[in-house]
Amino acid sequence: MNTLKRWLPFIILIVAVLISGTYFFLRTGDSDYTPQTDDVRMIYREACAQCHAIDGSGSGLLYPAFNSHNLSIDQIKQAIQQGDFMMPAYRKIKGDTLQELARHVLFLSKRLKSKSEE
Ligand code: HEC
Repeated sequence: MNTLKRWLPFIILIVAVLISGTYFFLRTGDSDYTPQTDDVRMIYREACAQCHAIDGSGSGLLYPAFNSHNLSIDQIKQAIQQGDFMMPAYRKIKGDTLQELARHVLFLSKRLKSKSEE
């Protein structure tokens, strides 16, 4: 019991380091991706499809499908610009390109919805 007490602060430290290490390992920062085209389908293919799949259906448990809940254009734009825990922020996608890309994502999500209702 006494040895446990002596080691407890050390054990807590190790656990804290492991947890924060995992957090920073999984956490994604900003993406350097800069669109070279106005074609948002192309941009989606280059920057998004590796996680969200070409039709927006996602992959596995980690990457959600775009139809998991109702998304608005503003929410989509925010996701692209600010990223999320496991999604990089695409700050270089902006203006009309951002608007058009968000519309493309909304289109994908609506198409997925109508497919799943069939
Ligand atoms: C590295 C993988 C990855 C890439 C690349 C990626 N995303 Fe994501 N995205 C995620 C994950 C994971 C989430 C879920 C939130 C989280 O845990 O980060 C997400 C969430 C989203 C959401 C919110 C979905 C919802 O249901 O709330 C939108 C919209 C989105 N991403 C759009 C995009 C677009 C557009 C691109 C390309 C510019 C893109 N993502 C690139 C991983 C990625």
